[in-house]
Amino acid sequence: RRGASLTDLAEKIGVDPASLVQVLFNLGEMVNATQSVADDTLQVLGAELNYTIEVVSPEDEDRELLESFDIEFGEDEGGEEDLAPRPPAVTVMGHVDHGKTKLLDAIRNTNVVAGEAGGITQAIGAYQVATEVDGQERKITFIDTPGHEAFTAMRARGAKSTDIAVLVVAADDGVMPQTIEALNHAKAAEVPIVVAVNKIDKESADPTKVRGQLTEFGLVPEEYGGDTMFVDVSATARTGLDELLEAVVLTADASLDLRANPDMPAQGVAIEAHLDKGRGPVATVLVHRGTLRTGDSIVAGSAHGRVRAMINDQGEQVTEAPPSMPVQVLGLTSVPGAGDNFLVVEDDRMARQIADKRESRQRAALLAKTTRRKTLDQLFEQ
Ligand code: GTP
Ligand code: MG
Repeated sequence: RRGASLTDLAEKIGVDPASLVQVLFNLGEMVNATQSVADDTLQVLGAELNYTIEVVSPEDEDRELLESFDIEFGEDEGGEEDLAPRPPAVTVMGHVDHGKTKLLDAIRNTNVVAGEAGGITQAIGAYQVATEVDGQERKITFIDTPGHEAFTAMRARGAKSTDIAVLVVAADDGVMPQTIEALNHAKAAEVPIVVAVNKIDKESADPTKVRGQLTEFGLVPEEYGGDTMFVDVSATARTGLDELLEAVVLTADASLDLRANPDMPAQGVAIEAHLDKGRGPVATVLVHRGTLRTGDSIVAGSAHGRVRAMINDQGEQVTEAPPSMPVQVLGLTSVPGAGDNFLVVEDDRMARQIADKRESRQRAALLAKTTRRKTLDQLFEQ
């Protein structure tokens, strides 16, 4: 296990921890028996002792935990015939104030920006819109992320849990630090990028310059022979919105196979969660596969509970959330972490067991971290 100590390892292979400390000492590493040891040190030690050491990541460990309950996370149940098309989930990213929230407001005919403190987005918002492409109604799920430099983790998570990134760049400001950061998150997550060049209504707008700047970062516009779609928009003048939605749908159709099994216990990700004074823990979840229903027993990270109510992006109560639909979930007994996975399980008991296991694991990991710091401090004291 990642973060294991020599005592843990000694127990596994049935030797005295002190002997392992000695072996490592002879290899030139000073490690005490209880502190957690780096993966590569464990591997070196294993090689010395003729053991093959496989370090299990927290993700693998969690997969094993779920498998012990006969749950496979991250896979659609059944075969090809059980898969149905699902809407693309799109993360909207970009530098602070480049107009991400305003753009989503324009697309949805709402005014979220007006309600934000200082006009700065501080949490992830999730919305679903419908558009018509080639005479067909198509839904798109949008996740709004903050552009402020402090919210790197939120952007990284957003990129990771969705299918496409819309990179918003203000045409008057051009490419800025968080523009680059955002596009790197999207590249790391291997999601296709659609560029929305915003604020083209402004006198000082220079959309051509933006195209040139982004070309240097490997996003070459289609009109220059590349494969990235650039769409000029203005959130305030409401221009280019349909074109942007169409570009998203075309990108989804061209490069992604967006299908999911709607007829299985729901799985997905908690994109945001907080404690509401009146309603208790509230988690915004994005369903990746399956259908989430009120009454379902769920685990989200180390939180668990039963879905008491679900609220869609219009503030309406719903009883079902199919794949790609974001909903607020009420009924959890504690607040999950943003980015935690969620899944529906057989009953409340199983939900609690999984949540408890995860929680004690988290506590152990935290303890390992603090003890390690302590031992280091002690070392320096001497
Ligand atoms: P963060 O979430 O804090 O990163 O900002 P944001 O990217 O969501 O920007 P937001 O939508 O809050 O817009 C920032 C400011 O730019 C607001 O004052 C908007 O009214 C203005 N703005 C957004 N889009 C346009 C546009 O197309 N044209 C003009 N002229 N102003 C715009
Ligand atoms: Mg915003």
